[in-house]
Amino acid sequence: MKRKKEILVAVTGGISAYKACELIRLLRKKGYGVTAALTRNAAKFVTPLTFRTITSRKVAMEMFDEDMPWEPEHIALADSVDLVAVVPATANFIAKLANGYCDEIISCVITATKAKVVIAPAMNDNMYNHPTVKENLKKLKSFGYMMIKPVKGALACGRVGVGHLAEVAAIAGEIEKLLK
Ligand SMILES: Cc1cc2nc3c(=O)[nH]c(=O)nc-3n(C[C@H](O)[C@H](O)[C@H](O)COP(=O)(O)O)c2cc1C
Repeated sequence: MKRKKEILVAVTGGISAYKACELIRLLRKKGYGVTAALTRNAAKFVTPLTFRTITSRKVAMEMFDEDMPWEPEHIALADSVDLVAVVPATANFIAKLANGYCDEIISCVITATKAKVVIAPAMNDNMYNHPTVKENLKKLKSFGYMMIKPVKGALACGRVGVGHLAEVAAIAGEIEKLLK
């Protein structure tokens, strides 16, 4: 029997974090095995319990779990997934990843993995247009990571601009193409 492809949906702390729930639902419907990982700030927007329930799996959040098996979780995940999708990706997380910081589980997994990596940024339009963000996104592209650009839409600040997370169905479609 063909092995189910495994996806890690990594959620960082932006207002569109709740949309990762719908993405996971779509990906599971398409037959993928899905694990969720959250930054501590993502957990301020959406609860780990929600992700545990919709994936039926433990949520990756801590690197220093008391009941850690012999192999650290970030390496086990890095070795076992076919694709990591950061949805949404904050300006902060993009900066960390572009510059090699590994101070929480998601950046560790991505730095340690040979799997495909998809980044879906979402932020305020001025943040998205800031030179540091542009430079960091350019760097991530040069690492071979696939970008799913944000679109024009209503932003959390009340304005309309480019920075709105791409449609979840479009993100799921891109992931499916990459895993074919
Ligand atoms: C209400 C609220 C909404 C936010 N939305 C975003 C966002 O959409 N994108 C973004 O890059 N940062 C956003 N931030 C700022 C991030 O939460 C902040 O940079 C945080 O340090 C990100 O942490 P993480 O990257 O470790 O998850 C928001 C903050 C608040 C309080």
